[in-house]
Amino acid sequence: MALEPVKQDNFDIFQEEYSRPRNQAVRQAERAVFGHEVGLNGYTTLEQAWELCDHLKLTVDDYLLDLGGGRGWPGLHIAQESHCGLVSTDIPLDALREAKVNVEARVLHSDVEVIAADGRALPFRSECFDAIVHADVFC
Ligand SMILES: C[S@@+](CC[C@H](N)C(=O)[O-])C[C@H]1O[C@@H](n2cnc3c(N)ncnc32)[C@H](O)[C@@H]1O
Repeated sequence: MALEPVKQDNFDIFQEEYSRPRNQAVRQAERAVFGHEVGLNGYTTLEQAWELCDHLKLTVDDYLLDLGGGRGWPGLHIAQESHCGLVSTDIPLDALREAKVNVEARVLHSDVEVIAADGRALPFRSECFDAIVHADVFC
């Protein structure tokens, strides 16, 4: 029996996962829990996303970096509720495409960008964000 090659890093796993269509039951569960689809790919609950809003206290003058934001969770929630600017970053293109769709599906009052960027070598100048979140991301 041939063994599957060992995957060297998480990128292969995430790449593969984001390339598959999302399960209908998961989408329905998100609509029931969040009121709309958020594209969750981790363990950050809605309650925890609210806690992040309360803790960070970002305003319209602030910019948030969501590192490994996947399809936009939880950065988009924080941006929508705090009215802060947001840069959501990840690597797999399928995740970034879905994040863009999720940006368009929301009513946002601030500048939101979805950018391909590796958390180990971020392409931003220093001190350009007021806060950073990385939900379930280990770089
Ligand atoms: C468990 S998922 C969480 C995604 C999202 N934050 C959520 O809660 O739905 C981890 C994410 O981290 C991203 N990631 C892992 N290593 C990364 C790195 N070095 N730079 C940027 N993103 C990374 C993966 O592609 C994946 O989307």
